[in-house]
Amino acid sequence: MAIEIEKPSVGLSKVAVSETHGEDSPYFGGWKTYDSNPYDKSNNPWGVIQMGLAENQVSFDLLEKYLEEHSEPSSWGKGAPGFRENALFQDYHGLKSFRQAMANFMEQIRGGRAKFDPDRIVLTAGATAANELLTFILADPGDALLVPTPYYPGFDRDLRWRTGVKIVPIHCDSSNNFQVTPEVMEAAYRCGASMNLNVRGILITNPSNPLGAKIQRSVLEQILDFATNKNIHLVSDEIYSGSTFSSSEFISIAEVLETRGYKDSERVHIVYSLSKDLGLPGFRVGTIYSYNDNVVTTARRMSRFTLISSQTQHLLACMLSNREFTENYLKTNRERLTIRYDMIVKGLKNARIECLKGNAGLFCWMNLSPLLKQPTRESELALWNIILNEVRLNISPGSSCHCSEPGWFRVCFANMSEQTLQVALERIHKFMEQRRRN
Ligand SMILES: Cc1ncc(COP(=O)(O)O)c(C=O)c1O
Repeated sequence: MAIEIEKPSVGLSKVAVSETHGEDSPYFGGWKTYDSNPYDKSNNPWGVIQMGLAENQVSFDLLEKYLEEHSEPSSWGKGAPGFRENALFQDYHGLKSFRQAMANFMEQIRGGRAKFDPDRIVLTAGATAANELLTFILADPGDALLVPTPYYPGFDRDLRWRTGVKIVPIHCDSSNNFQVTPEVMEAAYRCGASMNLNVRGILITNPSNPLGAKIQRSVLEQILDFATNKNIHLVSDEIYSGSTFSSSEFISIAEVLETRGYKDSERVHIVYSLSKDLGLPGFRVGTIYSYNDNVVTTARRMSRFTLISSQTQHLLACMLSNREFTENYLKTNRERLTIRYDMIVKGLKNARIECLKGNAGLFCWMNLSPLLKQPTRESELALWNIILNEVRLNISPGSSCHCSEPGWFRVCFANMSEQTLQVALERIHKFMEQRRRN
């Protein structure tokens, strides 16, 4: 949540006073408005509905059922086996049992088409820490990473704030469903060079946030070829890999490497966390999986700053090692996300709003450009203000994701009950009707 720091009377470091924390973006601004007046069916029915938070609450019952049936990993009474070892455990390699379980889970999500070595898994406190840690290792202050737009607004903080690294946007647009092409990558690389920036890598999100779309194999191949030709790193943030829902398979960069016999793999690093697929952002469980030995060693050393508690590792090692649980969880979670996605797309269609065709994630990318007075960022933010304060829905404006086309918004659908989503859709419908009448 956004925190405000008053002007300090005594000096602070450059990092502390820097603006690159990114929290003054409307992405976080909308959260604040929601926090001050949250919707509640009985107590505050005209409050703000939070549709700007990519949380997955659709499968909590499955986690709760597992915990009810398997109390051993979470309850450590007097004399319970493992308590003392876990209480004292502070090795930054993490529990071997947990790294093995994570590696297996990541393989399972990819249908067994990619292999993960538990010794290459570095544990971090969420994907936030993983992305920052990797940036520290791959680039120096003042260097740059290329990131396709629209992108997750948190990257402005995670990749830039404490590292001093810059982001050069790769501008994608709706003409090809916001897909990355060799031309736009080249244009961004040249833009970086024209600003005298040392471009050290490209960071992609697959499936993409905010588009909610898996990246096709051919596009992944082009991105890897581009990174190889420029001799830069490729980071693939695959935090939504288990939250995919159309019949076409999720293709990980790990699979592309596997089919290429791991050629050029030392420039590739995967980021993953359990925040989205298992809906556990509060547990702070992330990983870096790197094919580069030096990156693995350095990341492990640095992970000392952002470790996962051994109690959490122990609990999740047990849960993820239970194949029956993980199979059922992944299948059911995907089915439920599909139902939610269909529900929101249908509801928006009834309100005559089009969305980009999605097949993954916890959100959809909706096009409200016909409602803009002008095709500008200012008009987009004016519309966003109305939707936030009058319709009382917190959605994220595309400009907060650095989208180059005004009028697109990210709308989350898995952080609320079906009834609340229905209320949100009714509000949108009414708003659109009013707009048309006026
Ligand atoms: C693409 C992406 N990367 C990283 C994160 C941060 O995840 P975590 O909660 O694991 O730090 C998010 C969260 O929304 C995200 O969407």
